[in-house]
Parts: sequence; C-alpha cells; structure tokens
Amino acid sequence: MLFITNKHLKPGMILARDIVLYDSSNFNTLLLTKGQVLNNAYIKRINYHDIEGAYIESEVFDDINVESYIDDKLKSESLSQIKDVYYEFRMSSGKINASTIKQLSSIVDDLITELLYKDSLTYNVLDFKRYDSYTFQHCLNVAMLSLSTGISIGLSESRLHDLGMAGLLHDIGKMSIPIEILNKPGKLTNEEFEIIKTHPVNAVRQLQNLVSNDILRGIESHHEKLDGTGYPYGRKADNIHYYAKILAVCDVYDALTSDRPYRQTVFPNEVIEYIMGCAYTHFDYEILKHFFKVIVAYPIGTFVKLSNGKLAVVVKNYSENIMRPLIRIINSDGTVGDDVDLLYDSEYMNITIVDMGYDYENSGLTGVLKSTYEVKVNN
Ligand SMILES: [Fe+2]
Repeated sequence: MLFITNKHLKPGMILARDIVLYDSSNFNTLLLTKGQVLNNAYIKRINYHDIEGAYIESEVFDDINVESYIDDKLKSESLSQIKDVYYEFRMSSGKINASTIKQLSSIVDDLITELLYKDSLTYNVLDFKRYDSYTFQHCLNVAMLSLSTGISIGLSESRLHDLGMAGLLHDIGKMSIPIEILNKPGKLTNEEFEIIKTHPVNAVRQLQNLVSNDILRGIESHHEKLDGTGYPYGRKADNIHYYAKILAVCDVYDALTSDRPYRQTVFPNEVIEYIMGCAYTHFDYEILKHFFKVIVAYPIGTFVKLSNGKLAVVVKNYSENIMRPLIRIINSDGTVGDDVDLLYDSEYMNITIVDMGYDYENSGLTGVLKSTYEVKVNN
C-alpha cells in the first residue's frame, strides 16, 4: 500500500485501510471501508472531513503493509473515555469522580498490554492526524508515545501505569481555561499565555486526592525545561520529575506534528531536527535516545526526495536510525526501481533524504499513481 495525499486521490483507487472519524460530531464513525473503490463523491467526502490522505492499494507496493499502532477498538474506547473525563472536568469545575479515574486507569492497563506485546513499537504519525479531535487525540498520542518510550527504557509495569495516567491527564487543566483562548487562531497575548500556563497547576489542584503523587508531579512539570526556562515554576533538570521529562518530549513532538488552529503541520523529520536541537537545554538526552527508537521520521508508504534528486517510497524503518530507512526508488519514467537500504548498504552512505515527498507525487510519480488505479479499474 501507498500513502496518497488527498489532492492526489483519483477515482478507481482502492482503499487499503478503513477511514474512521473521531471528531466531536462524528465520533468513531466509519467513513469508508477497506477495499472501497474511490469515486468522485467519496474523494469529496474525504476532503470535506479535512483528511490528509489515505492508504491506497498498489500492486507494485503490495509488500508494504502499514499496521495500526493500536487496535481500532481500543483506540476508540480510549478516546471516548478521555473525552468523558475531560468533559466531566469542565462541567464540574474540576470535581472528578474517583470511579471515572478508575475507568481511565483500566484503559491505561489495556494500552500497556497492547504496546508491551507488539513486535515493533514504531509509532506511525499518519495514523493519528488531522481527522481526529485535537485535545483527546493529543492526550492519547502523548500517553502512547510516553508508554512506548517507557517500554524502551525498561520501566516496570507499575511505573508505566503512572506514566500512562500522567500522559492521558497531562492537559486536563486546560478544561478550566476559556475555549476562546484555547482555540484562538493567531498568537496569544502575554495575558492569555499567562492563563494557559496555569493548566498544569489547575490539574494538580483538582486531582490531588485521586491519583498518586508521581502522576501529579509528572503532570505538574510537563512544560518545564532542563535549563529552567519552562513553566510553571522554572524548575531545572534535577528538580523535574522523570515522568515529566518523558511527557515533555512526547508533548512537543505531537503538538508540532499536528495541525493546530494557529499554524500548519511541520513534517515529522523537521520536528525531529528541532527536538534534537533542544537536547540538553529542554530535553533529557538519555530519554531522547529511547524516544527516537519508537517514532519514525519518514512513515512507511510515503514519498521522499533524495539528495541525488531521485524520488523514492519508504518501505521499512529501522529503530537503530530513524533517519535512514529502506526505500524503493521511483525511476524518472514513473516505473519502480531497486530497493536501497540507506542504513546498511555502504554504497548509499553519501545519500540522504532531503525532503518528504507529499508534494512530489505529481513530478515523476504519475506513472506509479496511474498504475495504482488503472490496473485496479481494469480488474
Ligand atoms: Fe500542556
């Protein structure tokens, strides 16, 4: 399968995976099913819901298979549970029931079980973007990324549990902040930013007798930075809770790879460069080493541009080095060329990926896209 961005979807292409909506008005709604042949009406529907793109079946790329990061049922249950907890917090001015926290806790247990027994921990950023309701999806993403990082570090199950709870609850204090400020398109005023900065402390105040002290300290410090330039207290390295250091990386990664009201998405490879640049000042380098094993710079099935000017499709990622995947060359006439292993093949050591190919599907890839749908139509 291949990931094709929405503007390049064509009638006749066949969906390789279900498309499920999780926005507030269509929560957990199956929009289109795997195997569906696209027509203009379906493509319009995909665009209407602002979906970034879709996985499409392709004969020349039929060995590329993108698995879901977590089971779809668990994903929708988790999101629904997060939504309930966050709404309860808003509606009751922070008075959450112990039973609600208990339900959330069992979701964390399920997430841990799911992630612990997976062969590969690679987080596919494309699984969780755009068409999902931002706040709830963000909390689930941060929890999953934190848990995967924690698993790579080798944390015990009980510590993973507290880390996962802190991930799901880290932004709940935002529910006490007026929606106009939270969703403001454009830059916040200093006064508005001061209000946003209260969210970690709001959460700790309200959750005090409901969750463990470690969970509270994780939530409280998720915006602190090692050099003391973070908030709410400007704590430095040794005074920041370990869970908060993990949450901080995952929070920034997810925020920057998501489409927010105030700016466009940045590609995952650019986010990785940015995060690396903040090692030691903002983020703990030892944690980053594990974090970079669970995410990918270039998701499988997407197009990339190489330093030698060629285009390729990502076939496989390596946790040893997420910047150098196995790729399949697309020839200039649109036919498919050889596989190139950027990590292990010494012949290609001087070649780097210089860009993600979302906008290159038109240039030279027409042949691949054409065969993707024409072959299927003829069948
Ligand atoms: Fe936050």
